[in-house]
Amino acid sequence: MTDQTPKKLFIKTYGCQMNVYDSQRMAEAMGAEGYVQTDRAEDADMVLLNTCHIREKAAEKLYSDLGRLRPLKGARPDLKIGVAGCVAQAEGEEIIRRAPLVDLVVGPQSYHNLPAMVRGEAPAVNTEFPPEDKFDHLPQRRATRRAPAAFLTVQEGCDKFCAFCVVPYTRGAEVSRPMARIMAEARDLVARGVREITLLGQNVNGWHGEGGEGFGALIRQLAGIEGLDRIRYTTSHPNDMGDDLIEAHRDIPQLMPYLHLPVQSGSDRILKAMNRKHTAEQYLRLIDRIRAARPDIMLTSDFIVGFPGESDQDHAATLRLVEQVGFGTAFSFKYSPRPGTPAFGREMVADEIADARLQELQALLDRQQKAAQESMVGRTLGVLFEKPGRMPGQMVGKSDYLHSVFVHAPEVAPGELLQVRIKASAPNSLEGELV
Ligand code: SAH
Ligand code: SF4
Ligand code: F3S
Repeated sequence: MTDQTPKKLFIKTYGCQMNVYDSQRMAEAMGAEGYVQTDRAEDADMVLLNTCHIREKAAEKLYSDLGRLRPLKGARPDLKIGVAGCVAQAEGEEIIRRAPLVDLVVGPQSYHNLPAMVRGEAPAVNTEFPPEDKFDHLPQRRATRRAPAAFLTVQEGCDKFCAFCVVPYTRGAEVSRPMARIMAEARDLVARGVREITLLGQNVNGWHGEGGEGFGALIRQLAGIEGLDRIRYTTSHPNDMGDDLIEAHRDIPQLMPYLHLPVQSGSDRILKAMNRKHTAEQYLRLIDRIRAARPDIMLTSDFIVGFPGESDQDHAATLRLVEQVGFGTAFSFKYSPRPGTPAFGREMVADEIADARLQELQALLDRQQKAAQESMVGRTLGVLFEKPGRMPGQMVGKSDYLHSVFVHAPEVAPGELLQVRIKASAPNSLEGELV
């Protein structure tokens, strides 16, 4: 296969960071088949759409993108079109029925079958949940130099069954990867220039080792890797914030002072209807304990407004919780009913009301985000430089708190982690100088 001119693969990734990680792994698997990546669909021999099913709009993007690919496929019938990710898992062969130009449909737990599917040696639709870990069968990453910040999936799937959410159905039951495999992959990344790793999982802090170790123990092990300067993780469930993890925030300098902890609502009634299994008060007490362990931690979250049954009082309780916590940033979404989930079919909040609530919540969260960013001015923070900035001699990197920081530093190379004094705050970034 290697004696032919390489074929070109175009991948488009929607959705969460785990899809970003999976796309990279699929590119590596297809690399072993002689495919190189291109960033132009027009040049590609194969187009792979790695999809998201979380909200209706996300899922519908697949079909509008497929519509745009139709002329390409018409001109070059040998162009292969594959659909991967959570829509592939949720809709399976229905995708080919609705869009016959699609050649392959592969769910997130079946990516190890992708090369055989492309060769025509495995069925064109594969949405099985195999009993083994898919990562055991994916080819190793190729030994290329990597950007300074990388993702590493440690856990996949979810057993929480929040009433609104498709993830337990699209990603399946919770599976933790063994500690030894995670350590080996982390060491390999560091050997290739990575200095910051974000551990990924739909319920990442629910990770547990084969010997019963908790997620805090995994972070302690990772912190022992020479050259791994920063550790982050996402996404966590409040009920899995164990003591060992909170203590890791207290003790481990490599663990960044940043925590994404979705709460979804501040109303106990709605939390119960969502099956989140904790109250607003329990969330607030948890935040107190985390802040006692790591006072400079920045908290971020996710919210859903207009969940079925949400009243004005429920919405007010959400605003109150936001005021009480003070978030560095947060995502907020209007509830989108998803077929197959427990909340599907429940009576909806009127659209205008949900829209107004979303606006109100977002305005509050925007104010908090601005305040959090401005509070960085005058502080000295680590910045991991990633690439040149917009202006000559300028470099841009990420602070401990994930803000983009621009610094005039012509001598600095990507991958350097340096102390920077923050001088000013712009709408979506900070400006600083090396100390
Ligand atoms: N595993 C993560 C979240 C995964 S989905 C967690 O447990 O927090 C990311 C976010 O999308 C969720 O936190 C939620 O705020 C939002 N979301 C999920 N399902 C949704 C739906 N049906 N409608 C609107 N937003 C939704
Ligand atoms: Fe979805 Fe809830 Fe699981 Fe998060 S914890 S992935 S919101 S079911
Ligand atoms: Fe979307 Fe699947 Fe991630 S539904 S958010 S791509 S787990």
